[in-house]
Amino acid sequence: MRNVTKDNITDVFKSYMDAGMDPRTRELMASLVQHLHDFARETNLTHDEWRKGIAFLEGCAAVETDDRHEFVLASDILGLSSLVDMLHSRSDATSSSVLGPFHVSGAPPLAVGGDMKRDFGGPLLLAEGVIRDTDGNPIAGAEIDIWQTAPNGLYASQDEEQDKFSFHGLMTVGDDGRYAFTTVKPVEYTVPTDGPAGDFLRACGRHPWRPSHLHYIVKAPGYRTLVTEIFPDDDPYLDQDTVFGVRDDLVMTYHKKSASEFPEGMVLSGTITEPFLSVKFDVTLAKI
Ligand code: BEZ
Ligand code: FE
Repeated sequence: MRNVTKDNITDVFKSYMDAGMDPRTRELMASLVQHLHDFARETNLTHDEWRKGIAFLEGCAAVETDDRHEFVLASDILGLSSLVDMLHSRSDATSSSVLGPFHVSGAPPLAVGGDMKRDFGGPLLLAEGVIRDTDGNPIAGAEIDIWQTAPNGLYASQDEEQDKFSFHGLMTVGDDGRYAFTTVKPVEYTVPTDGPAGDFLRACGRHPWRPSHLHYIVKAPGYRTLVTEIFPDDDPYLDQDTVFGVRDDLVMTYHKKSASEFPEGMVLSGTITEPFLSVKFDVTLAKI
């Protein structure tokens, strides 16, 4: 087509696509371009503004490393990651929530009842629950990959002072499906703001805070892998999570208990002298 105009360019784009291409790819490409073109037409996008958009993408690519995933962060603060999660969440299973850019694969094994805080100080939290199927039966042998920030609000991958796997653990549950571990109560923290995603937040007049949370990836053969988080119900940022990750069924009460209520069978049993916090969070996995 020679006579391309601002009104027909979208249809011209679609006419250039290979009629024999994979239908799903065609649907995604055509819709993406339709929305991009509509955005430019509706806002009368200027050259300067378009260049700023390109600079944003270039800036993300420039800071991207194996430990820093600025494109994931950008998707998170845009709400796109959470939207995709919600589009594919199963109503009969525990809600999924954002993976975020700080998950590190290969966490060391953490036994059921183990301690993830090691030498770090801070309010002691006992987290426990059962991994079940949608009929309520425990899933023997399910695996939970657990990670959280240290008390300074930084993940191990962001902090040279921490070991690569500090506050990371991989737990395999027994026949009863039960998991349990001790840790330090996570703190609320800000997502990184020193790159293009931070510029984007500032341009929108938005803060960078996330409510405190524990991250879980829960897996079992024959079940859909669940990426999720648990939040305490008294967190000041619950209603304004900058990455839109909070769902009602992921908000739990962290109960304060006396030292004498600390259970048997934990690595720290018999050593607890101060009150501690306790949270129970059962996880339901859907079959594939
Ligand atoms: C996180 O919870 O680790 C996270 C999620 C999205 C963006 C940044 C951090
Ligand atoms: Fe996090």
